[in-house]
Amino acid sequence: MPDTPKTLRIAMNGVTGRMGYRQHLVRSILALRDEGLTLADGSIVQIEPVLLGRNAEKLSQLAARHNVPDWSTDIDAVLADDTVDVYFDAQVTSRRAPAVRAAIAAGKHVYMEKPTAETLEEAIALAHLGAKSDLTIGVVHDKLYLPGLVKLRRLVDEGFFGRILSLRGEFGYWVFDGEHQTAQRPSWNYRSEDGGGITVDMFCHWNYVLEGILGRVESVTARTTTHLPERWDETGARYDATADDAAYGIFDIEGGIIAQINSSWTVRVHRDELVEFQVDGTHGSAVAGLRNCVIQPASASPKPVWNPDLPSGEPFREQWIPVPDNDDLENGFKLQWVEFLRDVVAGRPHRFDLLSAARGVQLAELGLRSSDEGRRLPVPEISL
Ligand SMILES: NC(=O)c1ccc[n+]([C@@H]2O[C@H](COP(=O)([O-])OP(=O)(O)OC[C@H]3O[C@@H](n4cnc5c(N)ncnc54)[C@H](O)[C@@H]3O)[C@@H](O)[C@H]2O)c1
Repeated sequence: MPDTPKTLRIAMNGVTGRMGYRQHLVRSILALRDEGLTLADGSIVQIEPVLLGRNAEKLSQLAARHNVPDWSTDIDAVLADDTVDVYFDAQVTSRRAPAVRAAIAAGKHVYMEKPTAETLEEAIALAHLGAKSDLTIGVVHDKLYLPGLVKLRRLVDEGFFGRILSLRGEFGYWVFDGEHQTAQRPSWNYRSEDGGGITVDMFCHWNYVLEGILGRVESVTARTTTHLPERWDETGARYDATADDAAYGIFDIEGGIIAQINSSWTVRVHRDELVEFQVDGTHGSAVAGLRNCVIQPASASPKPVWNPDLPSGEPFREQWIPVPDNDDLENGFKLQWVEFLRDVVAGRPHRFDLLSAARGVQLAELGLRSSDEGRRLPVPEISL
């Protein structure tokens, strides 16, 4: 095992963006700069961010606001700096692969947002590069660290469900088109030529969520569409929305489990959370969101009878039992950062690697193809 460093310097690219700023810089790395990174033996490693980006004015303001002494617009110089240990990338997706290649070539440990690349070919090429290096390389798999999904996984491990039959997931919310009210997502998300689209964005999450909770995804049937063909961008200019804004997917999971997940930026929320997954099994069912999870064991299941002539007498929502936290469940992005940085210090691989991320890119590509061709597609196993 390598000597424990006193400090880890982390170059962070894309910190002016939504994810880079809120989840990665503020909630994760600045919090860790204040607390220090605690290792398994109780020793503490100091964390120092170096802000990277294209716009010097925005970066200097951000650095001043958060008291970060180091920032730069010169990525090559930062990658050549021996005092920098880790490169992190939360840029727009289309810029990720070249930046990650350069960071690996410079011998930096790398952590990055998903998707890792715009095509499966590039995602696999990156996974090959990562596997050949002795660097620690990780990709954000944040949903598996969410309290709701941690509880769901615990129920699977405890055998709560008996034989698992199915999962149904509902993800989405109304993203304003920007004409009368500004949109709450960046406009590149709605242009396929800029790496946008909900299938590309969400299927890479659904792949590791399904793998991490139920098992390998064996096939996909999807119908993707662009419900709103025009939108207005950050400057108020109208543009053609060329990317899909809704994807309706069915996934066959190993062991005969069927999963169905709707993903949409054109749906209004009548749910408790922005994403919810229901898992039904022979011995019980559960519904998990970002934070909460409720269960209904078989022995406490009501017996509804279909009768449209009478109002329903059952208070269905009240018939579920909340699963307690039983643990201090922190921000999911920060939890994965801590795990990744501990892996860096220990000189070992991170469990959510470029190969797992490539499977996510693969599922998105196959989802789009399934929709184009109007048929179910098998998901071939990828090996390096
Ligand atoms: N893990 C998650 O839940 C999650 C959620 C949303 C987005 N993401 C991913 O994070 C990445 C960033 O998404 P975001 O929503 O923060 O986007 P954003 O548009 O808010 O931020 C993009 C960042 O990339 C930079 N950038 C570099 N080149 C650019 C270019 N040519 N055009 C525009 N911006 C450019 C911007 O300056 C900014 O810092 C994407 O790859 C996205 O898929 C992940």
